[in-house]
Amino acid sequence: MPLPDELKRAAAEKALELVQDGMLLGLGSGSTARFFTEGVGRLVADGMKVRAVPTSRDTAALAAELAIPIVTELVGEIDLAVDGADEVDPALDLIKGRGGALFREKLVASVAKRFVVVVDDSKLVKRLGVGVLPVEVLPFLWRSTAERLTGLGLTLVVRGGEETPFVTDNGNIVLDVTVVDGIGEPQRLATDIKAITGVVEHGLFVGIADTVIVAGPEGPKALGRLSGGGRVARSTPAHGESTPGETRDRPSQAT
Ligand code: 5RP
Repeated sequence: MPLPDELKRAAAEKALELVQDGMLLGLGSGSTARFFTEGVGRLVADGMKVRAVPTSRDTAALAAELAIPIVTELVGEIDLAVDGADEVDPALDLIKGRGGALFREKLVASVAKRFVVVVDDSKLVKRLGVGVLPVEVLPFLWRSTAERLTGLGLTLVVRGGEETPFVTDNGNIVLDVTVVDGIGEPQRLATDIKAITGVVEHGLFVGIADTVIVAGPEGPKALGRLSGGGRVARSTPAHGESTPGETRDRPSQAT
């Protein structure tokens, strides 16, 4: 049985096949995305010309160490963003942010022509909400924000505890929200949470992932949208199944 780190590395290595000379990349955060960034570092060392937008200070520091040119001001789109996830459901909707970088991760994903998620198979869930949903909120009057969230029927804790809260790269705090019985309607919950004043961003990534590369004992496999081209409308396929009319990426065909 491969170790989780080997699976994470396998997924990230598969995503590296999508990197082409001249691309502007989005570099995710967390242990799986780290393998991707390290791989980009190797490509750069071999002479490939790419630039990158990191999604956290940690990733920016790693990219700088690896001599990956960093872009901090962006006009236009990122060619390819690659990031990890905490949970992936059959519709390829995600929970992200347990590493605390969700706001910048969502910004980067939202301006990417292609957003590819790399995970080991332990991240696949039938329904989102198995674990907590991170919500980044402004520290100012955060209790009022928390009250509005509990008004939606959610329970929550301050990440790190009220005495020593975890502080994001943006100077905000994170409320880790639990949804009893899981998230039945991710888009609806995403809209409801986002509408609360004081919420900066939440970790629900609904309809954003184009491709999810999942590594299991059989090797990495790509779920999601067609190779190349723009985004496609997606129904809700079960994990690993093709939607009629779509040809799923096969890892060897990823372009
Ligand atoms: C950080 C994230 C990460 O992508 C997510 O937590 C997955 O991390 P890992 O690859 O270490 O399991 O969203 O904010």
